[in-house]
Amino acid sequence: MGCSCFGVFGRLQEGNDIDPQGIVNNRVRLFTYNALRSATGHFHPPNKIGGGSFGVVYKGVLRDGTRVAVKPLSTESKQGTKEFLTEINIISDIKHQNLVELIGCCAEGNHRILVYEYLENNSLASALLGSKSKQINLDWSQRAAICKGTATGLAFLHEEVEPSVVHRDVKASNILLDDNLLPKISDFGIAKLFPDNVTHLSTRVAGTVGYLAPEYAMFGQLTKKADVYSFGVLVLEIISGRNSANAAFGEEMLVLVEWAWNLKEEGRLLEIVDPELTEYPEHVIQRFIKVALFCTQSASHQRPDMKQVVEMLTKEVTLNEDLLTKPGVHKPHTSRQSTSGSSQTSSSVGNIGKTTVNASRSTIIDSSFVETEVLPR
Ligand SMILES: Nc1ncnc2c1ncn2[C@@H]1O[C@H](COP(=O)(O)OP(=O)(O)O)[C@@H](O)[C@H]1O
Ligand SMILES: [Mg+2]
Repeated sequence: MGCSCFGVFGRLQEGNDIDPQGIVNNRVRLFTYNALRSATGHFHPPNKIGGGSFGVVYKGVLRDGTRVAVKPLSTESKQGTKEFLTEINIISDIKHQNLVELIGCCAEGNHRILVYEYLENNSLASALLGSKSKQINLDWSQRAAICKGTATGLAFLHEEVEPSVVHRDVKASNILLDDNLLPKISDFGIAKLFPDNVTHLSTRVAGTVGYLAPEYAMFGQLTKKADVYSFGVLVLEIISGRNSANAAFGEEMLVLVEWAWNLKEEGRLLEIVDPELTEYPEHVIQRFIKVALFCTQSASHQRPDMKQVVEMLTKEVTLNEDLLTKPGVHKPHTSRQSTSGSSQTSSSVGNIGKTTVNASRSTIIDSSFVETEVLPR
């Protein structure tokens, strides 16, 4: 393939063996390190648009004027290399209006860099929960559109892509907002392909405190329903304008989902709504909160799938509240666990670190599941 513009020197092609670990596919554009260095002004600090757990993300402008987000990954850590490969393998060939587009990558020498379309309004975390200067005043229709768009993106990953993709890290900082404040799911670094014929994967836990489904946090049991749980937490954050990881509500220091549940039980559901939101249709917002509660139920099989969630959010359906069961909550750093269906105590999930789980506690712990790795927000 010949040279193309913007410093891109071609697409990866089959047999085009640029990476010893076989990232090769024919759908991503390959950038030279020099092209990305000049696009970002030599990775100039003021061009930094985000700092995640594994490095810094820069804004860049390609030679043709296209704006991009450039994410160099550390190659010193195994994690960086793994994330690079996972992301390319998972999103290079899927396109959807609610998923961020991977434009290309650089795999020159030791450099492993991902290049995405640039999203004007950064992340939902910065718009909703960030510092005052970065916050964007989101009205109800914008918040509702963010919930619906994110649900649609997840439903696509779960139900339409083959094999299905479980994102594993659905949270506000991984939801990017475009010029119209519509959402795109990003950061597929720890996503997993999920073949149709398996009921669950037993895996090391990776994800973010505050968003982890209890069965996954404690036992490493991964199903699509772990994403459904995280999505439910996200919806509560969007409606309340509060951060699920930092917040402790009421005298009992409840986490967001417990607080929402208690308010529902007391018939005071609307108290969870962000005081900044002054105008909203009460019956619709109540439905959204209930959908979030359906998503965060303790027993994963009781949670709806993402297609059902899209329906519940977009159609004027009446939800049967009698079917709602208590949320499951995994609390790091404590041995308390408020799932209604389980008596196990939680393992201590800390910031990046390793925890040995006592396999004798439960027969459903896979013996290979001995490590817990949770990323800070
Ligand atoms: N395409 C993009 N457009 C705009 N901002 C982005 C883009 N990609 C990432 N960011 C910013 O960088 C942050 C970290 O990016 P992310 O891909 O989630 O990296 P990490 O793996 O380190 O969490 C995001 O929360 C967001 O603020
Ligand atoms: Mg991220």
